[in-house]
Amino acid sequence: MSTANPNLTYNYKVVRQFTIATVVWGIVGMALGVLIAAQLYWPALNLDLPWTHFGRLRPLHTNAVIFGFGGCALFATSYYVVQRTCQARLISDSVAAFHFWGWQLVMVLAAITLPLGYTQAKEYAELEWPIDILITIVWVAYAFVFFGTITKRKAKHIYVANWFYGAFILTVAVLHIGNNISHPVGLFKSYSVYSGVTDAMMQWWYGHNAVGFFLTAGFLGMMYYFVPKQAERPVYSYRLSIVHFWALIATYVWAGGHHLHYSALPDWAQSAGMVMSLILLAPSWGGMINGMMTLSGAWHKLRTDPILRFLVVSLSFYGMSTFEGPMMSIKTVNALSHNTDWTVGHVHSGALGWVAMISIGAVYHLIPKLWGVKAMYSTSLINLHFWLATVGTVLYIVAMWVNGIMQGLMWRAVNDDGTLTYSFVEALEASYPGYLVRFIGGVIFLAGMFIMAFNIYMTIRQKDAVAVDNRAAQAA
Ligand code: HEM
Ligand code: HEM
Repeated sequence: MSTANPNLTYNYKVVRQFTIATVVWGIVGMALGVLIAAQLYWPALNLDLPWTHFGRLRPLHTNAVIFGFGGCALFATSYYVVQRTCQARLISDSVAAFHFWGWQLVMVLAAITLPLGYTQAKEYAELEWPIDILITIVWVAYAFVFFGTITKRKAKHIYVANWFYGAFILTVAVLHIGNNISHPVGLFKSYSVYSGVTDAMMQWWYGHNAVGFFLTAGFLGMMYYFVPKQAERPVYSYRLSIVHFWALIATYVWAGGHHLHYSALPDWAQSAGMVMSLILLAPSWGGMINGMMTLSGAWHKLRTDPILRFLVVSLSFYGMSTFEGPMMSIKTVNALSHNTDWTVGHVHSGALGWVAMISIGAVYHLIPKLWGVKAMYSTSLINLHFWLATVGTVLYIVAMWVNGIMQGLMWRAVNDDGTLTYSFVEALEASYPGYLVRFIGGVIFLAGMFIMAFNIYMTIRQKDAVAVDNRAAQAA
């Protein structure tokens, strides 16, 4: 780490804005998650209105949590990390501000158009073409600010976290453009240029790498900065972090075929997706172990520091979901898990356990630094939040594992004469207890988010809290 420069000022304004937006979109997106979880248990909550129907609110949930909550967490932390590790102010304050407001506009447009039923019907790429064009412009602005700041760095070395953030920015740009090429037939309707199995292949090349680069690579960037910072220890092995980076990005892009097992996708492409997914276990665990081992000699801090607990438990969930994913990509396992709640459980062990927990840890680390106070208003509230988040996540994923395996087994059970043992409705009825437990888990997780919002509000309100733009004297 380089020596601090007393004349240097950082742009923390945009980091503060994105940090607050992270919490706001987190609450909105998770509240929607709780609502749709409730609808699966009490279908009358659909209110019989098209705008509040499960089918329209579900994509709003995924967009709000992935692009609103996850996106803002990545933007806030990447702008913070790139400035501090490069010892340079963002290359342009106005382009960074455009990025912030442009992204909020994208999210508001999503919140309006999805309930109205405007959709491209591609999972995680539902937004219609005019919004896609806006996303492209905003993303170019983001790439300009991030990479532009790296070019004017004072530190010679480009710290590994920036490599992960950089891969996230570049790959998401390619994925977004590749999957969204379409023929507009009106302001709110377009058709994909791809058809049939090519369309499915493009969609899951996009979908899987949205997981790999939006929900993973960027958050690994976060991990490589905030875990060492919070543990006050250097990264366990810097060499491993470089190997981790290249192995991860080289492997992820080939694995999307596992979303299309037993489909019209050529069999060899499905098998290739499976093999690459199995290989992916190695870089994923390499990274997880590197993060965990960074705590060597600092494990005792876990007893007193709930922020560190968030970061470390997020790594455990990362390790768990990246073990589960390769297992689910094995064709025979997928024959049982596909289309069941097992997939939804896997998703949320990654989404709540990994993505949300590491973001929450990073936000707690950031808030006092961005507002120039010594610590968060209440450490015991962070601790309470930690337990609510952990219990909520565990309830959610265990309920979905039980449901998923049960559904898979019930769907495939056959009588001696070859007829199905259970009707679909019987399997659905058997799933109800699991849906209730998932709903309760979601409410608990959401309650933790409200406690976080309160704690942040009280921290910022403290009499000595001042928004800081230039903590130049702090070492990166
Ligand atoms: C309080 C927390 C949350 C609750 C209660 C919740 C609930 C739900 C529900 C009920 C579904 C629909 C499942 C189905 O169709 O059967 C869903 C889907 C989904 N959620 Fe969440 N969610 C929460 C948080 C999150 C977060 C933080 C993320 C991402 C960072 C996320 C990402 C997703 C994704 C990607 C899907 C689609 C899954 C698939 O297609 O298999 N969720 N969620
Ligand atoms: C080594 C890493 C991973 C592998 C090999 C993997 C593999 C898989 C497989 C096989 C499926 C089921 C596909 C199906 O039957 O439809 C799946 C679904 C999914 N995974 Fe993973 N996974 C990994 C890590 C993660 C992580 C860390 C996250 C979240 C942060 C995640 C998010 C998702 C999502 C959102 C889906 C649902 C896609 C959909 O159908 O909408 N995965 N994954």
